[in-house]
Amino acid sequence: MARSSNRLADEIELHDQKPLLADAQLEIKRGLRTDPKKLSPKFFYDQRGSNLFEAITELPEYYLTRAELSILHTHGTAIADAIGSSVCLIEYGSGSSTKIRVLLESCRPRAYVPVDISSEYLLHSSHRIADDYPWLHVYPTCADYSTPFGLPSSVDGLTRVAFFPGSSLGNFEPADAAMFMEGVRDVVGNEGWFLIGVDTKKSESVLNRAYNDSGGVTAEFNRNMLRHLNERFGTDFDARAFEHFARYNPSKGRIEMYLVSKCEQDVRLEGETFRFAPGERMHTENSYKYSLDEFVALADATGFRQHLTWFDADHQFMELLLKAT
Ligand code: AVJ
Repeated sequence: MARSSNRLADEIELHDQKPLLADAQLEIKRGLRTDPKKLSPKFFYDQRGSNLFEAITELPEYYLTRAELSILHTHGTAIADAIGSSVCLIEYGSGSSTKIRVLLESCRPRAYVPVDISSEYLLHSSHRIADDYPWLHVYPTCADYSTPFGLPSSVDGLTRVAFFPGSSLGNFEPADAAMFMEGVRDVVGNEGWFLIGVDTKKSESVLNRAYNDSGGVTAEFNRNMLRHLNERFGTDFDARAFEHFARYNPSKGRIEMYLVSKCEQDVRLEGETFRFAPGERMHTENSYKYSLDEFVALADATGFRQHLTWFDADHQFMELLLKAT
């Protein structure tokens, strides 16, 4: 069946700020030279990594996504009432854009700017959104949101609402989280809003299970980073020679994720060799958890005030609507 052509979907144009190409190899080499070795979690998200993360969000152990979706479903109207009409929604790390659909339907913004590091995934989901919401202007922006990026001038004049779901803030070190929040504050401006989903501190066993699923999907997601680096940046990791390890560190308030070398092995990048000892851990991700008080203090310090706060029924996850101050 032919469907009526969607003019907005046909006109979708990618604002590609080429986030990974510049300096990525240098960054990877620096990470492999340090002790302990480390790689940034932004390297998880090639097409396969984005698909694996999508699969994680459906795992019984990974409560975060379901909890946040239930909050957005329950309080979508309250969010819409607070931010008003004539809104531009800017989504940081849009992925497959499932959560934004709930907001698009409750808030009916004029424009939607999905920002994601994976261009293939971004374009694909932008087209699907534009097809499903013909009244919406979609301006996909391929950028690394941890560094400053520009918005298309087409959204000038609209109230800016940043949306940062999934507790992705947890990937940042506390000082970097503050810098990130200040950057969001700059992007949304004096009249802007920030809707953010944050995972809370809770029982260690619940947290550890969420990052050590019985099906091994998180393990595969973790190892996929190595395949991505091989394909895109020229390393020669043997992903099968690394094991997934994730554990909550209560003193730091974060899940720490590593890849553990199963044997002594060498990895090369651009003529440089990096040796791994058997059992050596390479850090791939932190996922900080916040109490409400900790997060509100962070918001206060970065140009926002708490406007509305919601929890899911099991009190596992929180969503805050912050107002620029
Ligand atoms: C997308 C960063 C929020 O930390 O929970 C899921 C990524 N890593 N399982 C998280 C992730 C392992 C996720 N964030």
